[in-house]
Amino acid sequence: MEHFTTKAQLQQFLALQSAKGKTIGLVPTMGALHNGHLSLIKQAQQQCDVVVCSIFVNPTQFNDPADLEKYPRPIAQDIKKLEDINCDILFEPAVAEIYDNNEHWHLNIGPLEDLLEGKYRPGHYQGVTQVVHKFFDLIKPDVAFFGQKDYQQVLIIRRMIALLNMPVKLIMCPIERETDGLAMSSRNIHLAADDRKHALILSQTLNKIKQHFDINNIPALKQQAEDEINSKPGVQLDYFAIADGETLLPANKNSKITIALVAAKVGHTRLIDNMIIAG
Ligand code: PAF
Repeated sequence: MEHFTTKAQLQQFLALQSAKGKTIGLVPTMGALHNGHLSLIKQAQQQCDVVVCSIFVNPTQFNDPADLEKYPRPIAQDIKKLEDINCDILFEPAVAEIYDNNEHWHLNIGPLEDLLEGKYRPGHYQGVTQVVHKFFDLIKPDVAFFGQKDYQQVLIIRRMIALLNMPVKLIMCPIERETDGLAMSSRNIHLAADDRKHALILSQTLNKIKQHFDINNIPALKQQAEDEINSKPGVQLDYFAIADGETLLPANKNSKITIALVAAKVGHTRLIDNMIIAG
């Protein structure tokens, strides 16, 4: 595996690949790789000639400095996982390689940025679009792979691509779950044993709502979900939404896709999960 830490090295190598007519797939990550990330890389390997995985804990998408500070960074283990899976390129830049000291620009993607996660983590998606825009610009991937786990992020990046006519195709890959249903996340590492058990209420509730979904009964279903999650010790619900899969506004009879999304603090760890429940 090629391991680059500078833009110049990466671009030089990619220019050679493009000159040979190779297609480039990008899997952007913040590291602490788990099977969810590896499934994105496998998908990229099936569709592209050369796969770049980036590991960059992007400071501009953290609205809480303590969260940034404690974000896991097991780089040696990550490199081993990428080598084992035969990833072609790891791009692992330092913050100074990506940002100048005085960068204050951001993109305005519209209302999607301020709903749900955007409401609880103001500025988060502006940081995400800032860094993803930079990576698209630098790497010029033909295809970029993102996990459904952050469904709102997928919609926002899709919107950025459309607004700016960026020549990249976005593929959303399914959520990978532990055998008991917990959505894989780099943050799961922080869950104490009891929290790990209590966290299952999120996927269990999503499944239950999917089973009982009825477009005419959304307020009652939402209330039931909120009550069940709130009754778990150590779990503090931020939101449970039953939303239109394109706008993330409340689902209605015209919604082509209906999705349930949840965010909650379990112990000290904030988790998100979602499930497409109709469409
Ligand atoms: O989903 C993530 O891990 C991050 O938001 C991303 C897309 C790598 C941007 O920093």
